[in-house]
Amino acid sequence: MKRICVLAGDGIGPEVTECAVRVVGEATDQVEFVRAEIGQGALSAKGDALPEETFALMRSCDSSLFGAVTSPDRLDYVSPVLRFRKGLDLYANVRPVRSLVERPNRPPIDVVIVRENTEGMYTQNEVFDDLGVTTMRKVTRRACERIVDFAIDLTRSSGRRRITCVHKANVLRGSDGLFLSVFRERVGMLGKGLESSDQLVDSAALKLVTDPATFDVIVTLNLYGDILSDVAAGVAGGLGFAPSGNIGPKHSVFEPAHGSAPDIAGKGVANPTAAILAGAMMLRHIGLPGPASRIDQAVAATYASGHLTVDIGGRHGSQSFTDHVLRHL
Ligand code: NAI
Ligand code: MG
Repeated sequence: MKRICVLAGDGIGPEVTECAVRVVGEATDQVEFVRAEIGQGALSAKGDALPEETFALMRSCDSSLFGAVTSPDRLDYVSPVLRFRKGLDLYANVRPVRSLVERPNRPPIDVVIVRENTEGMYTQNEVFDDLGVTTMRKVTRRACERIVDFAIDLTRSSGRRRITCVHKANVLRGSDGLFLSVFRERVGMLGKGLESSDQLVDSAALKLVTDPATFDVIVTLNLYGDILSDVAAGVAGGLGFAPSGNIGPKHSVFEPAHGSAPDIAGKGVANPTAAILAGAMMLRHIGLPGPASRIDQAVAATYASGHLTVDIGGRHGSQSFTDHVLRHL
């Protein structure tokens, strides 16, 4: 039996996480769920958005299923997401985006974005002076090697063939230059049989929209991966379509790529697809590929049979969409 820590969080987090828990629980009897607090609820109840008991439970479980949290507008606030990514050494953020519905005048997309998850702009190291603020951006050789090696492995193990390094080495010559040169080195050593290329981040954003078939697997730095995965999700139909996995040598946390969506929270209309597919990714990661594939197929079949959520012009809310996924399962 595998133990999963469920962290619902804020806004639409609990709404979509509940759908994912229903689907994962139906797909397999090999998991048990334990729940823990994170985000604004935890902050008001315990004075910490990531209380120590939550973090301890995450460490002791086989994996975690997380919704989303809302960030308050406070200078001294450190997001619990950044804290658990760093604290659990979740160095790889894997974000697959695949079209599940045909959209008029939009090409289909099927890409996996592998995002470095521990440094770059996300160390929140900002220095204040009279002139303003300087943000320190960290790029280490070790982090570049780990993420590139991970992306090469993932490309192979998922039966994909092409890997593109996305960077801005024409301007950030030192830091992004290091990432690009590590990419070339590691692909040279480990990427036999794979097609490799590199692309500047700005034109990569354009191509993701105009010609997404350019890309198969993208490996990129933290901030670019964050932004490009929302761009890719938009091409597929919206943020409700992008699941993600934060993966480290020992621990893992799976979540939809979106945030707490305060604009639709409480209305029951959030698309739970990303959360449900994150549940499938989690099952595959913890060694339950059968139930994972059944969930993927049930979601695809739900869309294929014309049951759409409101974000892409359908009439289903989170729960009734999930009912259809469960029926297909
Ligand atoms: P967001 O991802 O929450 O929402 C962006 C837009 O996409 C909104 O219009 C929202 O309604 C829509 N959307 C998102 N998920 C959807 C779904 N499942 N179904 C249908 N529509 C969906 O990003 P935003 O608005 O920039 O941030 C809101 C809050 O979330 C902020 O406090 C931010 O800090 C936090 N956030 C948290 C993350 C996390 O916990 N991992 C990640 C990103 C943002
Ligand atoms: Mg994001």
